[in-house]
Amino acid sequence: MVEPRKCTVEPGGMLGRFKLGAVIGSGAMGTVFTATDPDLGRTVAVKVLHDEHARPRLLREAKAMARLSHPNVVPVHEIGTGEPVFIVMELVGGGTVRQWLAEPRSLAEITAVFEQAGRGLAAAHAAGLVHRDFKPENILRGDDGRVRVVDFGLVANRGEREEPAVSDGSPLDLALTHTGLVLGTPAYMAPEQHRGEVADARSDQFGFAVAFYEALYGERPFAGTTYREMVRNVYAGKVRPPREDRAVPPQVRAALLRALSVNPAERYSSLDALLDEVTRPPAPAPAPAVDPVRPPARGSTRWIAAAIAVLAIAGAAVFAATRGGDDTSHASESRASTTSRPPPSAPVPTPTEVARPGAPLAKPPAQPAQALATPTDKKPVAARKPRIAAPPPATAPAPAPAPTVDDAAERRRKQLELTE
Ligand SMILES: Nc1ncnc2c1ncn2[C@@H]1O[C@H](COP(=O)(O)OP(=O)(O)O)[C@@H](O)[C@H]1O
Ligand SMILES: [Mg+2]
Repeated sequence: MVEPRKCTVEPGGMLGRFKLGAVIGSGAMGTVFTATDPDLGRTVAVKVLHDEHARPRLLREAKAMARLSHPNVVPVHEIGTGEPVFIVMELVGGGTVRQWLAEPRSLAEITAVFEQAGRGLAAAHAAGLVHRDFKPENILRGDDGRVRVVDFGLVANRGEREEPAVSDGSPLDLALTHTGLVLGTPAYMAPEQHRGEVADARSDQFGFAVAFYEALYGERPFAGTTYREMVRNVYAGKVRPPREDRAVPPQVRAALLRALSVNPAERYSSLDALLDEVTRPPAPAPAPAVDPVRPPARGSTRWIAAAIAVLAIAGAAVFAATRGGDDTSHASESRASTTSRPPPSAPVPTPTEVARPGAPLAKPPAQPAQALATPTDKKPVAARKPRIAAPPPATAPAPAPAPTVDDAAERRRKQLELTE
């Protein structure tokens, strides 16, 4: 059970038509209760401000959420503009990702959760919004495993300049400035946010990378026990060396380091691009037996079929050769018409070559083997030559040969014989 801070309403109280239940969470800005909506007969989550001074912020948050409709962003149902101001939203039952990470999780599980959260954050970017407070406490997991981004309390429209994120008086950094310790949100802020510059989607990308890194390695990328120490490392782009007990793929680490670049221009152009990189299946190890183009099983079946066909031809040729030259050519020719005999110069794979799981499988099959394995295949042209060279059909009349000098003499001789 989370203790509400400075909240003007209590569990069991009424807020408009909503009857408040237990407190389910509390952040720097507000307290969140379960509540029942008697009109619609459903349970919802209601966020109430700790401090009425932040009223414009809550209204802004509600408007931002209402602009978004994405499976990975918590939907807002309505807003209460009286006093206190409150947001009514979908109740997400599975707790925060911070709580979820208290148990050991696999690389695949963590990646799946952060991919979803990242897609939700990217949807906000697509709507022209910058979240500016992305962290594990602001990612919720439903009981169904679906992830939702919450807490758009620091949201800004793209390009909008606001007060520096680290400033005295802002609830976000109160704990920090009072104790001098690195607490909460500053640990997820991009260098430009620390400097009070305009944050954009690339600043969210930085925060996302800090949170994802922390989930994978069990520690944040920038060391430091005080704010000052940590920020020095952030400004210097000095990321801790990887922990040896965490098997994070090099490709994922490289992508996170790029997203953690000090210079926003060196980060990914979009969060989606980062997500595509961290979820891309790792490049396969160079295994010589695997044909990168065709599935190996199919490829090897073709080669075996080719080998059998070659053996059959070779056997028939040897058999025919023992019966004389004319018969040999005839035997070969008749098979060529159905199996596309390879040109004599082409190398024919031997059965041992076919069976060997080595170079021949990695290379595309040579023409004759392809033709042998696939009788209907129109290639290669050389193998079809015998058909092209076949004699013309009997119905085609042969052109009459032009009369020669000898023919004319013979005709004259015959005419003389007749007249005699
Ligand atoms: N829709 C929700 N469903 C369930 N729990 C929520 C919901 N929204 C917020 N919470 C819980 O309340 C906490 C504080 O909410 P949040 O919006 O982050 O407030 P703050 O702006 O004060 O940080 C969250 O960390 C989470 O534990
Ligand atoms: Mg929060």
